Amino acid sequence: MLPHPATDTPLMQDPKNLQGFLLEVQEIARMGSWSWDLRTDCLLFSSPLVSLLDLPRNGRITMEEFITRVHPEDRPRIVQVRSEALSPGNDGYTAEYRVLGKGGVMHVVARGRIERDERGIPRRIYGSIQDITERKRMEEALEVERSYLAGLFENSPDAVVVTDDRGRIQKTNRAFTHLFGYTEEEAVGRRIDDLVVPERLFEEGQGYTADLSRGARLDFESVRRRKDGSEFPCRGVGVPVRLSGGQLGVYCIYRDLTAERAAREELKRALETMEKAWEQTIEALASTSEVKDPYTAGHQRRVAVLASAIAREMGQAESFVTGVEKAALVHDLGKIEIPAELLSRPGQLSPFEFRLVQVHAEAGFRILSKIHLPWPLAEIVYQHHERLDGSGYPRGLKGAEILPEARIIAVADVVEAIGSHRPYRPARSIAEALETIRGESGKTLDPEAVEACLRLFLEKGFSFPKSPA
Ligand SMILES: [Fe+2]
Ligand SMILES: [Fe+2]
Repeated sequence: MLPHPATDTPLMQDPKNLQGFLLEVQEIARMGSWSWDLRTDCLLFSSPLVSLLDLPRNGRITMEEFITRVHPEDRPRIVQVRSEALSPGNDGYTAEYRVLGKGGVMHVVARGRIERDERGIPRRIYGSIQDITERKRMEEALEVERSYLAGLFENSPDAVVVTDDRGRIQKTNRAFTHLFGYTEEEAVGRRIDDLVVPERLFEEGQGYTADLSRGARLDFESVRRRKDGSEFPCRGVGVPVRLSGGQLGVYCIYRDLTAERAAREELKRALETMEKAWEQTIEALASTSEVKDPYTAGHQRRVAVLASAIAREMGQAESFVTGVEKAALVHDLGKIEIPAELLSRPGQLSPFEFRLVQVHAEAGFRILSKIHLPWPLAEIVYQHHERLDGSGYPRGLKGAEILPEARIIAVADVVEAIGSHRPYRPARSIAEALETIRGESGKTLDPEAVEACLRLFLEKGFSFPKSPA
């Protein structure tokens, strides 16, 4: 016989040492032994149990007394288990129940063995009781976690399917049945690719399955097929997971993109309609101001062409360029508030008349600020006569106080005005206009906008459109 490592040492061969050793082991395992003599109704517990269950120090009580220490809800079951164990033919039992111990409610597992006399009459039951409160607590925590995850899986609005590493379906949720039309019974055991991938995309599906079985994560947009053969655009996410038993599996999540795509299209159409409406509004405003001032007909349109070209030449984003273009198209809109005879009168204006004309910047601001547009048109128009050194009007703003869009329009406005015919003077040449802005660069006009404007005319062959743009 092989020696027992714990008891076959000289130390353990001493009965006193052996008993101490066994008691210590019981204490560590939070368990102990007991025996119940049916003839005397005396229940006897080992000292670790006396302390665990908070029993009388001598460890002796009757069965009735013990039953009062069992949790009231578990008492009927324990009485039942005990009587079943004592019935003929049974030689033992195992039961889990709660007892009211020293530290409150304690979960225990009790094992008992029946000792019978030669006629089969039970004489004694003996066995063990172990405190399993900690294990129970962990089991309960695990159960909470498990039901939480199961709830998430089952109630996910996205279709979720679990497959093994070869793409064979193990489990599906409610949304999967709803989306694809297959019940869980119909789906389990079949290959996911066979079930939901349209034939023409079979290679793609198999590629994804192969990637996933190598442990890759996937996030893709494609088309998948329902049970009735209809197809829908879908987003798929695949995550490799470890299934029970250590086997590699895959969590696949599918989302139907039909509604999302339709909403996106709808939004795009609405935006396009709105953009058209904005453009028409600005177009109508531009025409209105030109009717009033025929001498500057086409002025705003030509400024818009040049100003947007300058903005683009400066490397500005397309949305910025559009803002500049739209603001330039209506920058002199405020002139509709100025008497027509003043705008079309040949000859120099008196200082008073000039102040009247200056009002157009603020008037344009007032009109435009009532319209909700995606660019700060009102403010840009308000500032188009401001100058870097503060010499402009109406507020005498300086440098960075002036919006970049307004600084660009100022340059284009000066070039177009000099190059065109005015009631009070004939048109001068573009060369003259460019000389003027070169001279004002960094003083009244933005140097970067001037540079870009010069490059456009001198290097890139820019010219104003002949007829209204
Ligand atoms: Fe103006
Ligand atoms: Fe102008």
